[in-house]
Parts: sequence; structure tokens; C-alpha cells
Amino acid sequence: MLKALIVYGTRYGAAARTAGDMAETLRREGLSVEVVDLKKAQVADISEYELVIVGSGIQINKWTSEPQKFLKKFQKELAKKKVALFVCCGSAAPIDDKVDKAKSIADAKRKYLEEKAAEYHLQPVALGLFGGIYNFNKTPWLFGRFMQAVKPQLEKAAVPQTEPGIYDTRDLNAIRNWAKELAQIARLSV
Ligand SMILES: Cc1cc2nc3c(=O)[nH]c(=O)nc-3n(C[C@H](O)[C@H](O)[C@H](O)COP(=O)(O)O)c2cc1C
Repeated sequence: MLKALIVYGTRYGAAARTAGDMAETLRREGLSVEVVDLKKAQVADISEYELVIVGSGIQINKWTSEPQKFLKKFQKELAKKKVALFVCCGSAAPIDDKVDKAKSIADAKRKYLEEKAAEYHLQPVALGLFGGIYNFNKTPWLFGRFMQAVKPQLEKAAVPQTEPGIYDTRDLNAIRNWAKELAQIARLSV
């Protein structure tokens, strides 16, 4: 059975939910999958995995620190494996209707994924750019004003609340399709 590892760092929950959604699809595709929240646990060894997926949420243009430490720690081994990167971010699914969506997505892909891959000298088999979560139950006071500005845009864009105070802009089908394609790539011998 092919083995996949998904590691992630999250602040508001989007990368965690996305990792869980990916794992579900990969398992349905016949892979054995381990999921690790790097803020809660560490990974000592990746030698047993054929596929490694590394993801993060984005805040003020930055990944969380833990998956970056993971990329640094395993940089050499990852260069020889099938690696995929993903991020969850507002720019993937802009809620402000004045924003140029195609440009926002292209810029985010370059800044958050392509430049991150280059930073760690990786050639990922896939890059996943997914929407984010706006969590009004977990906002640090520092970002209170930012979140208050976001709220009317979320309402106007009719973004669904998955729980009271949690607005999820992710496209579950896009995440599942991405994971399904990754399962096919994992099965290829080279
Ligand atoms: C304070 C704050 C700053 C953010 N900055 C960015 C940003 O620079 N670029 C972006 O695309 N999304 C930004 N977002 C949206 C987040 O990427 C989104 O909330 C995402 O779900 C974060 O991932 P996580 O839920 O896994 O932590 C920001 C959100 C907050 C609350």
C-alpha cells in the first residue's frame, strides 16, 4: 500500500480541515495516510512515505513557521520524493468584488507556493491553492479591526458559515479533485 504523509500548520483551521479532506480522498483512493498537525507533534522520519504533502494557512503573506521548519529539516530527502505543497488563503477566493480574482489567484500561487518551493529547492508534483476560513471566534485582538472590515464582504458574498462565526470560502470539490490527481501521481512509478 502506498503511504502518504500530510503535515500542516494552521492558525484558524482551514489548513487542518483541508488536510483532513485530502486524507479522506487519498484513503478512498487506496493510500495509507498519516496526518500531522505540526503545532502539536513532530515528525522524526519520512523515509517510509512515497508522497509527502506539506501545507499551511497564510497570514499577512506568511506561512506558519512549523511546516517551514519541516521543509528545512527534510529538504534533502524531500528533493528525492514526490512532494506537494498547498496553502489556504484569502487570495485564492477573494470576497471583495473589487478585487481582480484571476490576478489575486496568480499572485498568491507565485508568492505562497512557487516561491516557497524555490526557497527549499523543491520541485513539487503539485501545488494546491485553496480558500480560507474567517474565524470570528479565534481572532487575536490585533486583527479585530481587519475582521470587522471583512464581515460585510463575507455577508455580501454569501459565504456560508459552517458553525456560528466561522465562514469557510474553501471549495471542497477542488480539494478532493486535487487529492485524487495526487493519488494518481503517487501510483506512477517515476
Ligand atoms: C489577520 C489576517 C491576515 C490575513 N492575511 C492574509 C494574506 O496576507 N493573504 C491571504 O491570501 N490571506 C490572508 N488572510 C486570510 C487567511 O489566509 C485565511 O484566514 C486562512 O484560512 C488562514 O489559514 P488557516 O485557517 O489554516 O490558519 C488573513 C486572515 C487574517 C485573519
